[in-house]
Amino acid sequence: MTTAPKIPATLIPGDGIGPEVTQATVAVLDALGAPFAWDTQLGGMAAIAAVGDPLPDATLASIRQTKLALKGPLTTPVGSGFRSVNVRLREEFHLYANLRPARTLVPGGRYEDIDLVIVRENLEGLYVAFEHYISVGDDPHAVAISSGVNTRDGSRRIAEFAFDYAVRNGRKKVTIVHKANVLKALTGVFLETAREVAKKYEGRVAYDDRIVDACAMQLVLNPWQFDVIVTTNLFGDILSDQAAGLVGGLGMAPGANIGLHAAIFEAVHGSAPDIAGQGIANPTSLMLAAALMLEHAGMLDKRRQLERAIDLALNTDNIRTKDLGGSASTQDFTQAVLKRLAA
Ligand code: NAI
Ligand code: MG
Repeated sequence: MTTAPKIPATLIPGDGIGPEVTQATVAVLDALGAPFAWDTQLGGMAAIAAVGDPLPDATLASIRQTKLALKGPLTTPVGSGFRSVNVRLREEFHLYANLRPARTLVPGGRYEDIDLVIVRENLEGLYVAFEHYISVGDDPHAVAISSGVNTRDGSRRIAEFAFDYAVRNGRKKVTIVHKANVLKALTGVFLETAREVAKKYEGRVAYDDRIVDACAMQLVLNPWQFDVIVTTNLFGDILSDQAAGLVGGLGMAPGANIGLHAAIFEAVHGSAPDIAGQGIANPTSLMLAAALMLEHAGMLDKRRQLERAIDLALNTDNIRTKDLGGSASTQDFTQAVLKRLAA
């Protein structure tokens, strides 16, 4: 019998609850037989303490080599000159797609049976932040100007990502979200290009389009009409938080940052310093991010296995951490998932 070669991957445990939820996630990945060969690297405060940089060269070099990373939350130092590690990673590895699924895992919230995916363009739009002021009289900030940049290539790339994702995951519809009635050039090029891409998937994935403000209202009135949403950077930032809110918030929301040459998977929540070290953090977000990582690495079956085990642990075994109204520790919940994986 030959053993499949291991897949090298960078592991950044991160700060606060990061090491706790990372350890839990690695344990379930091991139990799944996920063939990742972890290269553990520093990031965040731990890295500042060790080498004086929240994103050390060794960590960058590791991701450059593995092209695949699982990252715990990193504390952003306040009042220092350090740039956001997340922004640096996105730019460095050209992670153009931000994938944020929102699915109801624990019934009894405001909405039942939500299952939608937001695909957000991660590098362009208004977030290029080409900004400046014009002074008038004695007010240096009298006028603020910002230019957004959407390219046809960037729009095509993110639209193709969304439609390919839909095909691979058996999703039925992609909704293109824009504001082309007002921002005719900036979001017009996105809408026009995304529609062209949609035509190539005709017969496989349906599509429609929505103006962003109407979409925001529809997400509240009837979120079930949406399947995959693809949109530009700013709108995707806002709508993906809205979608996380529909399914009970941060603790259940995974995220993936994906580029042509690298991908980084993470929980949406931060380092939760208020509960760090207490063993009560909910590891579900990072486990779900790991599920996305499995799919990205071509192991869709293992992704489904992991998601099913999490679902059973939460809803059949009723093992829930405090943030979900339960009393389980991180360990208890992890053990419950492990037991379901072994069954
Ligand atoms: P946070 O997400 O860390 O915490 C917000 C609240 O949610 C806290 O009460 C926390 O206890 C709770 N919470 C978060 N994750 C939880 C989990 N897995 N289980 C149970 N409860 C959980 O947001 P906050 O407090 O605004 O940020 C803390 C630090 O994290 C900051 O330095 C921030 O910059 C950083 N951060 C890092 C992110 C990343 O690396 N991707 C994302 C967001 C924040
Ligand atoms: Mg955001």
